[in-house]
Amino acid sequence: MRTAALHFASLLLAGVLTSAMAQGVRAVDEQNFPQIEAGRRIATEGDCAGCHTLDEKKPFAGGVVLQTPFGALIGSNITPDPETGIGTWSFADFKNALHTGRGKDGKRLYPAMPYPAFTKMTDRDVAALWVYMRSVSPIRNRIESNQLPFPFSIRLSLLGWNLLNFSEGRFKPDPSRSPEWNRGAYLVEGPGHCGTCHTAKTTTGADDSSQPLRGGVLQGWYAPDITGDNRKGLGGWSDDEIVAYLKTGANGRTVASGPMIEVVQKSTSNMPETDLRAMAAYLKQVRAPASSATPVAANDPGMVAGKAIYKDSCAACHKDDGTGQPQLFPRLAGSAVVQSDDPATLLRVVMAGTQGAYTKGAPTTPAMPSFAWRLNDQQVADVLTYVRNAWGNAAAPVDSTRAKDSRGAP
Ligand code: HEC
Ligand code: HEC
Ligand code: HEC
Repeated sequence: MRTAALHFASLLLAGVLTSAMAQGVRAVDEQNFPQIEAGRRIATEGDCAGCHTLDEKKPFAGGVVLQTPFGALIGSNITPDPETGIGTWSFADFKNALHTGRGKDGKRLYPAMPYPAFTKMTDRDVAALWVYMRSVSPIRNRIESNQLPFPFSIRLSLLGWNLLNFSEGRFKPDPSRSPEWNRGAYLVEGPGHCGTCHTAKTTTGADDSSQPLRGGVLQGWYAPDITGDNRKGLGGWSDDEIVAYLKTGANGRTVASGPMIEVVQKSTSNMPETDLRAMAAYLKQVRAPASSATPVAANDPGMVAGKAIYKDSCAACHKDDGTGQPQLFPRLAGSAVVQSDDPATLLRVVMAGTQGAYTKGAPTTPAMPSFAWRLNDQQVADVLTYVRNAWGNAAAPVDSTRAKDSRGAP
C-alpha cells in the first residue's frame, strides 16, 4: 500500500519534472517571471526552436541542418552553456546578433539566421527574449554551424553581402493604419520572418524587395503568394480561414504541408488568436499587381488525358469538381498553391505524397499518397496541367521534363 502510494508520488514528481524539463526552463525565477513569459512568446513568434532545437529534449541546443543554395548551415547552440552555447554572451552581444547580424566579438552571421527580418524587432521584445533565453537550461552540445564550402565559408564574404542586401532598422509603425494592421505588419515582417520563405530570392539569396510575400521556392517547395492577390494569394480567403490555417494547419480550403507544417506546429499554433487575426488583416492588405492568366483549353490533349487520370486517381478524395472535403482533403478549385507560377510544391506533393500538420486543434492527420510509382512523368504533368486549368483555375501547363526532374527531389 505504502509502496504503491510512494510509487504514485514519484510518478507525479517525475511528470512535473519532465514537463518543466520539456519546456527547458530552469528553476523559476519569480521576479523575472512576467518577462520570461513575454520572452517565451517572442521566441514562439520568431520560431527560434525551428532552427535551434533538433531534439525536443534539448531545447535550443542547436543541430538543425539548413540547406541553402550555397551549402549547409547548422543552427547554433543558443542555450546559456558557457562553452558550447551563448553563456558568456552579454545582452549587447545578443541584441547585436538579432539586430545587426554580428555575434560575439563581431562575428558575422550568415543570413540563414533571419536577422534581416529580426532587425525590425523592438528593443523591448529583444530584451524580454534575452531574459527568457537566459532562463533555459544550459546544454553542452558543440555545434560547428558553418558547413559551407569555400569561398562561402569565409565569414568576411558577408561584409559584401550585408553592404548589398542588409539595412538595419527597427519596425516603423504606420500611424495612418489601425493598431491591428501595425501589429500584423510587425509580426509578419519582424519576428515571424514570413518573407524568408514567401518572398522570392535574388541571385545572392536575399529577399527580392520588389515582390514581397509574392511567393518563393525553397528546398523543392513553393511557399505561395500570401498577399491580398485574388487569384494566387489570400484575397479569396476570409480572415477566419487564415486564422484557422495558422492555428491548426488546416481550414476548409487546404491543409499545410512541407516546411509550413513546422512553422504551424512550432510557431503560429502557439500564438494568441489576436495576433493571428492581426497577421490575417495585414496580409490581406498587402497589395500586389493584379495577376491574370488564360486557362489551357479543355480540349488540349494534355487536359483530356489529365482529366481521365484525375477521375481515376484523385477524385475519390479531392472530388470531381475539385472541391475536396473540408479539414481533410484540400480544395483544388480556386487554390492558390495549385495555380502558383512555380509548380514545385504540386510536383512534390504528387510524387512523394505528404502528411498534414498535427496540431492540438486538428489532431487527425490526413495523408496524400505518393504517385511516383503509379504515374509516369507525362501522366504527372498532364494531371497537374488539368488541375491547374479546370474548374475556373488558370495557370501555365506543367511539362514532363519538369516532372522528371522532380523525381527523387530531397
Ligand atoms: C531560419 C532559421 C533560424 C531561425 C528561425 C533562427 N535562427 Fe538563430 N541562427 C540560425 C543559424 C543557421 C545560425 C548560425 C549562423 C552562423 O553561423 O553564421 C544562427 C545563429 C544564431 C545566434 C548566434 C550564435 C553564435 O554562437 O554565434 C543567435 C544568438 C541566434 N541564432 C538566436 C536566435 C533567436 C533568439 C531566434 C528566434 C528569435 C533565432 N535565432 C531564430 C538560424 C535561425
Ligand atoms: C520555412 C518556410 C516558411 C516560413 C518561415 C513561412 N512559411 Fe508559410 N508556407 C510555406 C510553404 C512551403 C507553404 C506551402 C504549403 C503547402 O503547399 O501546403 C506555405 C503556406 C502558407 C499559407 C497557405 C497559402 C495557400 O495559398 O495555401 C499561408 C497562409 C502561410 N504559409 C502563411 C505564413 C505566415 C503568416 C508566415 C509567417 C508567420 C509563414 N507562412 C512563414 C513555407 C513557410
Ligand atoms: C487518399 C486521398 C487522396 C488522393 C487519392 C489524392 N489526394 Fe491529393 N491530397 C490528399 C490530402 C490528405 C492532401 C493534404 C496533405 C497535406 O497537405 O499534407 C492532399 C494534397 C494535395 C495537393 C496540395 C494542395 C494544397 O493546397 O497544398 C494537391 C495539389 C493534390 N493533393 C493533388 C492530388 C492529385 C493531382 C491527385 C491524383 C493524382 C491526388 N491529389 C490524389 C489526399 C488525396
